[in-house]
Amino acid sequence: MDNSIDTQHSASSLLHLISGLSIGDALAALSGLFPGKVTFSTSFGIEDQVIAHHILAAGLPVSIFTLDTGRLFAETYSVWSATNEKYGTSVQAYYPSRDLLESFLSEKGPNAFYQSVANRKGCCYIRKVEPLKRALQGQVIWVTGLRAEQSPERKDHQLVEWDEGNQIFKYNPLLHWDAQAVRESIDLYDIPYNPLHDKGFVSIGCAPCTRAIRPGEDFRAGRWWWEDNSKKECGLHAAS
Ligand code: ADX
Ligand code: SF4
Repeated sequence: MDNSIDTQHSASSLLHLISGLSIGDALAALSGLFPGKVTFSTSFGIEDQVIAHHILAAGLPVSIFTLDTGRLFAETYSVWSATNEKYGTSVQAYYPSRDLLESFLSEKGPNAFYQSVANRKGCCYIRKVEPLKRALQGQVIWVTGLRAEQSPERKDHQLVEWDEGNQIFKYNPLLHWDAQAVRESIDLYDIPYNPLHDKGFVSIGCAPCTRAIRPGEDFRAGRWWWEDNSKKECGLHAAS
């Protein structure tokens, strides 16, 4: 059997299952179909906070994890705490492999990402991609806060898609939302959010690799801004 066709059909059937449903109902349907195997990754950005709210306020059986790179903004840790407190939960944390990190930093120093794209991708691999692989192990559906308007590459994502690299279905419930709809949802439900979003930071990753954007700049301009030609992705998300 051709696996790619088979998984494509499965992604279509999952899409069919959730079509027309609200985020909460879609997540309930998916977690009912795959009990204990639906997981949501949060970076505590504004999109992720909306999804977290739908999961936690309704008590849905969807696990929530974050990849703590060790280089996050202080404000990000505050949103993490505020989220745990508001919803009486405890978001699961994944950390980089100690061995990989010790070797990398001993050889290259703490800020090697500014020196070359290879170093930057090496750092992202150790701090995000490898821990993500552990977090997704045994799961069937990975929920993310990707939005299509964030970059040209992200327009290629689907609401439900097969992620060949991670061998998992991805559900991107906010894919077709615009920034204003996200913001309105934050206000409507009084969801805790990162105050950096009010200071020009639209996409918030690690502190040394994220800056505010200026009016007219694109969404991803504040990520790895010193790299002119790369596609501004860290390797977590490849369009299928
Ligand atoms: S990134 O690939 O450039 O870092 P971005 O910050 O736009 O991603 O976030 C897109 C989605 O990737 C988030 O909605 C979240 O699901 C996931 N994600 C990104 N960073 C993390 C993180 N540190 N921990 C968990 N999930 C993350
Ligand atoms: Fe390292 Fe920067 Fe990637 Fe964070 S965003 S993992 S600090 S290169």
